[in-house]
Amino acid sequence: MKFYQLPISERRKMLLQNGIKLNHVDDDLLSELDLLSENVIGKLTLPLSVLQTAIVNGQSFQVPMATEESSVVAAANHGLNIFNQNGGVSAKSERTGIWGQLVFEVAEFSLAEFEAKKPDYLKLVNEEFASLVKHGGGVRQIIAEVKTDLLFLRVLVDPAESMGANRTNTILEFLGQKISQDFTIEKLYAILSNYPSQYTCAKVSLAFASLTKTKDEKIGEKIAQKIVLLSKIGQEDPYRAVTNNKGIMNGVDAILLATGNDFRAVEAACHQAASLSGSYQSLSNWRIEDNKLVGEIKLPLAIGVVGGSIKSRSDVQVAYRILRQVTASELAEIIAAVGLANNLAALLAISTVGIQKGHMSLQIRNVLKNLTATDEEKNSVKELMQKQKRYSETDAKKFLQEIREENN
Ligand code: MEV
Repeated sequence: MKFYQLPISERRKMLLQNGIKLNHVDDDLLSELDLLSENVIGKLTLPLSVLQTAIVNGQSFQVPMATEESSVVAAANHGLNIFNQNGGVSAKSERTGIWGQLVFEVAEFSLAEFEAKKPDYLKLVNEEFASLVKHGGGVRQIIAEVKTDLLFLRVLVDPAESMGANRTNTILEFLGQKISQDFTIEKLYAILSNYPSQYTCAKVSLAFASLTKTKDEKIGEKIAQKIVLLSKIGQEDPYRAVTNNKGIMNGVDAILLATGNDFRAVEAACHQAASLSGSYQSLSNWRIEDNKLVGEIKLPLAIGVVGGSIKSRSDVQVAYRILRQVTASELAEIIAAVGLANNLAALLAISTVGIQKGHMSLQIRNVLKNLTATDEEKNSVKELMQKQKRYSETDAKKFLQEIREENN
């Protein structure tokens, strides 16, 4: 029997026999996980966090995030807090559909003949996939092009409330077979394309004073000017742009993970969206307009809120209870808003105290948690770590030893 054919308990046993110690996982959970992937032997855990208030299009949402990077939720909270003081985020999601590609090898091909038949194909496929149409989706468009003995069809599928990857591939294979027969041509491939689609835009307009703790208008304006400069660098310098976008994806991926969405697909589409101009640029943009700091983001978010991979996961269902049954458009708007919030928090930190201050206070918290010491000793260690800007576990142990020696 091949490894993947073994029951999960046998697979775990094999690893144990090879000296690999595994963590205990409940049998029910193991069986649930076994259905999700191949060669499953255990589970990986991420913290699930919740953002208390994200005001998007005048509505207040609680937002689930799954991430192991300690500063990500704090950054999203910080950014959203500033957005909320300014009336929240306005966002708009286009649910136009996702692209699929059908490619055929053709020696001679009459594009005109295909174009004449196109309405019939659209009708046929929407009849065949009537349940998708019933849910508000369907095949919207077919674009045909012949390039050096290859016929390229781009098929736009509106997946309604789902991500739509499986459905799109099934539709493409159905259409591929039909067209192959009708024109006696051979299909080379049929697969969805993760090319950017389902774009979502989010925008905020922030009073300068809201950018500072002290609500000082003048200091806020200076910070806004620095953020605009950083944003300009992100449009011109790929070294900064990639990092800027990593900060955005911190928030985006954490929600995608919590809601069972395909973060790899969104990541791949975002690479292309960032490169649309021909050079890699920031996905966000900050400018000063009418004495306000205005931030905008535009992300391709081919996400869903229903479908097999979402419904079958009890952990993911928690996220939807937190979100209170949002639509796919609403979820995309929330994701774009949080991506922009993470971006603002990063730009604020970089242009003021530097990124390490916030990161390191979380690092200190983690190090202290693992230190065997009294609360009083931990407080003294914390003070020394902050004062001397030394943040490792070794530093903490050294400080603890010094404190104890001094007290004896
Ligand atoms: C760290 O995870 C993300 C940042 O580097 C993003 C940025 O620099 O904009 C802080």
